[in-house]
Amino acid sequence: MKKEFPKGFLWGGAIAANQAEGAYNVDGRGLVQTDVTTGGSVDKPRYATYIDKDGNAGKLSSMGHTAKLPEGATFAILEDEYYPNHEGVDFYHRYKEDIKLFAEMGYSVFRLSISWARIFPNGDDKEPNQAGLDFYRSVFEECHKYGIEPLVSIWHFDTPLSLEERYGGWTDRRLIDFYVTYAETIFREYKDLVTYWLTFNEINNTVMFLDMFGDKASDHEYQEAYQHLHHQFVASARAIKVGRDINPDFKFGNMICGITFYPGTCDPKDILENQHKWEQNIFYCGDVQAKGRYGSYAKRLWKERNVELNITEEDQKDLLEGTIDLYTFSYYMSSVVTTHEVEDKVSGNFSLGAKNPYLTYSDWGWAHDPMGLQYYLEKIYDRYELPMMVVENGLGAVDTVEEDGSIHDTYRIDYHRAHIHAMAEAIANGVDLVAYTTWGCIDLVSAGTGEMRKRYGFIYVDKDDAGNGTFDRTPKDSFYWYKEVLATNGQKAIEEVESGQ
Ligand code: BG6
Repeated sequence: MKKEFPKGFLWGGAIAANQAEGAYNVDGRGLVQTDVTTGGSVDKPRYATYIDKDGNAGKLSSMGHTAKLPEGATFAILEDEYYPNHEGVDFYHRYKEDIKLFAEMGYSVFRLSISWARIFPNGDDKEPNQAGLDFYRSVFEECHKYGIEPLVSIWHFDTPLSLEERYGGWTDRRLIDFYVTYAETIFREYKDLVTYWLTFNEINNTVMFLDMFGDKASDHEYQEAYQHLHHQFVASARAIKVGRDINPDFKFGNMICGITFYPGTCDPKDILENQHKWEQNIFYCGDVQAKGRYGSYAKRLWKERNVELNITEEDQKDLLEGTIDLYTFSYYMSSVVTTHEVEDKVSGNFSLGAKNPYLTYSDWGWAHDPMGLQYYLEKIYDRYELPMMVVENGLGAVDTVEEDGSIHDTYRIDYHRAHIHAMAEAIANGVDLVAYTTWGCIDLVSAGTGEMRKRYGFIYVDKDDAGNGTFDRTPKDSFYWYKEVLATNGQKAIEEVESGQ
């Protein structure tokens, strides 16, 4: 069967406000957790910094975006620490130059997020911050100038810090209303400029990370994580309902951190364990957001973890009425699930467990597995039959700038070529895939490690891990390759794979 992408397929790239914009204290923006989070590396965690009630400086691991402050402490920016997100890659001041480069590549879509704290600096302010509203209006207008459709994440790991401090974050039900007010504000403001909205980036991380890092989480941690997630589900559903009243043409997507899980052996115990991994990490969120109710296995999950969720009748009604139009997800890697002892382990960030002998791994321990993307697409499409978007996919790698300034990132081209081909295979197998936005179209600060050297972009940004550099932009070899792929609606990548490249 001939492999091809449908006419009108949306091609582009993706960034997030807190990793790209910088300008963290400009034009009335409030703080978010990444503003008090230090840089790290593949084997050194990032830390959130604070001042305790006696005035002493302290740090806590920020892994999983759930850092909890000691009693009486407040998050703080410390003088002798470096915070890579403060200047990001300065998208705030350079967006015109960046969008022009995206247009040169032939983008028809650009995924970005709005920073809640630019619109409501404290998260629950009475009035929005006009400078914040003006900034995103100008960004969206710039996109439309080139015929680029904005795809907007309403939340990308950046709850205003003030809400974290005053309410303890998403475990407090009041955050639902604050989020809905924020969402309604931006829906009204940009109703003629934005059609595609994603409610929460990688919403499943909250529970997935609990099992991924360190020892088993405590009952209390599980209780908080599942309640936090329930509040985000309700916030997402209510925002969708409000949004549809404002503009019935809006299209809403969820956003799942998509990992393909494989059983390590054909031992039935591994098969069942793997099935439960899919339920807990992938289906749990997808089912609520696409079907409007918790999956049948949810009761078992809660029972095993001693979780008692506070779910009201109104919540249930909203979940049912505020389901998504599109299933969107990020895909970077697959993972092996086994109940057996493993000798060969992966030790990268976000990729713990058994090593898959059939795959190669990035310098950060992430498995290269394009066929895993095809598998994920086919499995999920079969479950929900909703149009799908791959809204993040990319290779974090160290790039070398040659003496003449060029960057020959063939490894990145190889990575994308294989994943684009895998998407074409899934389409040929019946999946309604409508968009692909690579992560990040331009180098930006890594979310997991805070590094710059873990680069994803087709455009190089001259900034290092200590914040030195001119911030100048340079297209890499992948920039010109992706441009040709887009000009042929994906055929170039398909043909290259099929001719053995
Ligand atoms: C996803 C996030 O988890 O993966 C992005 O949505 C993130 O924010 C991306 O940057 C890649 O992860 P990392 O840790 O390499 O930046």
